[in-house]
Amino acid sequence: MKTFTVAILGCGNRGAQTYGALMHMRPEEFEIVALCDRNAERLHSFGERFSVPPQDRFADEEKFLESKRADLLVIATMDRDHVREGLRALALGYDILLEKPITDSEEECRALLAAQKKYGGKVLVCHVLRYAPAFKKAGELLREGRIGKLVAIQALEQVAYWHVAHSFVRGNWHSREETAPMILAKCCHDLDLLQYYAGARAKSVSSVGELSHFKEENAPEGAAMRCLECKYIETCPYSAKRIYLDDFKKKGRPAQEWPFSQVTSAYPMSETDLTKALKEGPYGRCVYHSDNDVVDHQLVEIVFENGVKANLTMMGFTAEGGRIMRFFGTHGEIVLDEAADTLALKIFGMRPILYKISELGDVESGHGGGDSGLISDLYAVLSGEEVGATSLEASVESHLMAYAAERSRLQGGEKIELH
Ligand SMILES: NC(=O)c1ccc[n+]([C@@H]2O[C@H](COP(=O)([O-])OP(=O)(O)OC[C@H]3O[C@@H](n4cnc5c(N)ncnc54)[C@H](O)[C@@H]3O)[C@@H](O)[C@H]2O)c1
Repeated sequence: MKTFTVAILGCGNRGAQTYGALMHMRPEEFEIVALCDRNAERLHSFGERFSVPPQDRFADEEKFLESKRADLLVIATMDRDHVREGLRALALGYDILLEKPITDSEEECRALLAAQKKYGGKVLVCHVLRYAPAFKKAGELLREGRIGKLVAIQALEQVAYWHVAHSFVRGNWHSREETAPMILAKCCHDLDLLQYYAGARAKSVSSVGELSHFKEENAPEGAAMRCLECKYIETCPYSAKRIYLDDFKKKGRPAQEWPFSQVTSAYPMSETDLTKALKEGPYGRCVYHSDNDVVDHQLVEIVFENGVKANLTMMGFTAEGGRIMRFFGTHGEIVLDEAADTLALKIFGMRPILYKISELGDVESGHGGGDSGLISDLYAVLSGEEVGATSLEASVESHLMAYAAERSRLQGGEKIELH
């Protein structure tokens, strides 16, 4: 059995805390040998955890990418950096595990695909839901024709009120200038699943959406600039004290766990570290007094080339997270509800068959088991046994759909023809 060596570029929540940790648990398959992150605290804390010698820890991307340091490169920096780094890595001869979104530019997407064909490196994109047991099961039921011919799909992505505040108001994805549009950043998974379930490419896409709530004019009277100094600290649902400090205590003060690990890089983290970060850093800002400009809800309508139709609602204003997908076929329905832990197969005229999602497979890791499912498939891909469900080529389609959706939204919901 071959052990593949791994280098990680971007040692944050995804690169080190998720994929690095999963690979570190499978020492016969993967050995992490080099790390790069410009955040020194993260670089060295993961360097220690993964036993990467100090000379193989890099703060500077340029130096890190001077030569090939492993069989596989994990690229988990921010959205706008992926293609620049991917092009260099392919030229060096790396295989790549590439975080989504690939890029917010269609041109760059095509350039990366061309480079992959030229250099021949394998590229697997982290559309992790494809590897999660519940979403795989829905695909199997559809392919088996259990609900007849698929007519339409209704998808709801419940972002959750605290998550939209964390990532899209205060955090990494708050600015249109700095990152990919929300429909790409948050929903390329959903768009990828929809085209996979539909079994065809999208023919046309239209979309509407806006930033409706997290704006200055909606601040309660006399709200402070920072939650820890605000009179609404105990009552505002978006209060950073409630979202981070109270939840950190409720969860038993974890040494390192998302989303707290985004607020402070201290490891193991304490209440004092978290409080200091909320007093000084972006995650303690009032959601109404931040510099965010990305949408907090967006609706997309898609018609596929084979006539299947789908709509997707990305909604920030939900009490809980999780996706709900409903598939309408000529002979039945499938309803997948992550938060309710159910997948229901309702063949017309028959008793519904109810599956518990948690019993469909390993759902312990993030994204309903998709994170660890991806790492298992990655090993098979590197070994040459599989092409991988989320190869670069297969992943480009969902990105084209997202670009079209954003273009449509900016043009007031105009229908965009894709192919
Ligand atoms: N697959 C998924 O479901 C999923 C979920 C969340 C995020 N993501 C994607 O994963 C990527 C990373 O997100 P994250 O949540 O881990 O962010 P993060 O902020 O936790 O981690 C990013 C890390 O990269 C480092 N970094 C950025 N640019 C660098 C550079 N040029 N050189 C060295 N280090 C650099 C940062 O210091 C940081 O530690 C993003 O593209 C995001 O969209 C994917």
